Amino acid sequence: MKKLLVLYYSRSGNTEKMAKAVAEGAQIEGVLVDVNYHVDSQDLATYDGIAVGAPTYNHDLPMDFKNLFEEAAAKGLNLNGKVAAVFGSYGWSGEAPKLLTEILKNRFGMQVIEPPLIAKYAPDTNAITACKDLGKKVSETLMNTP
Ligand SMILES: Cc1cc2nc3c(=O)[nH]c(=O)nc-3n(C[C@H](O)[C@H](O)[C@H](O)COP(=O)(O)O)c2cc1C
Repeated sequence: MKKLLVLYYSRSGNTEKMAKAVAEGAQIEGVLVDVNYHVDSQDLATYDGIAVGAPTYNHDLPMDFKNLFEEAAAKGLNLNGKVAAVFGSYGWSGEAPKLLTEILKNRFGMQVIEPPLIAKYAPDTNAITACKDLGKKVSETLMNTP
């Protein structure tokens, strides 16, 4: 059984809706999906893949994620080659998913599905479908990764 974590931060619920749709789409046979808004850094290594949802506030990544990934790096956590995907709601500039993609790829050597999936404010039905598709793609990638 492969293990996928859908981790998200959300203040007004928009990225949370995206996260729930990603998790729904990721439910395929052989993949166990956890959805959470907080994990300890060492827990990240217990998953085969992670999908992270980050809304943009003040042109930046949420502080929780900065701390989480800085701590993971400081502890020397090995996420090399693991599958990742990034998504997030935004209002006008949407830096967070790009910043997160850079961190997961360049600092941790993760195999990130690109481009990140973004939705302006509340995800509409098209965005929800895209989230489900992304979840499915992550799980299928996990199943095809030894
Ligand atoms: C105080 C504040 C600052 C924000 N800063 C940005 C920003 O710099 N760039 C941007 O694209 N959206 C910005 N937004 C818009 C949020 O990204 C948008 O409302 C998003 O849907 C929030 O997602 P959430 O409901 O998952 O928290 C900001 C919103 C607030 C309330």
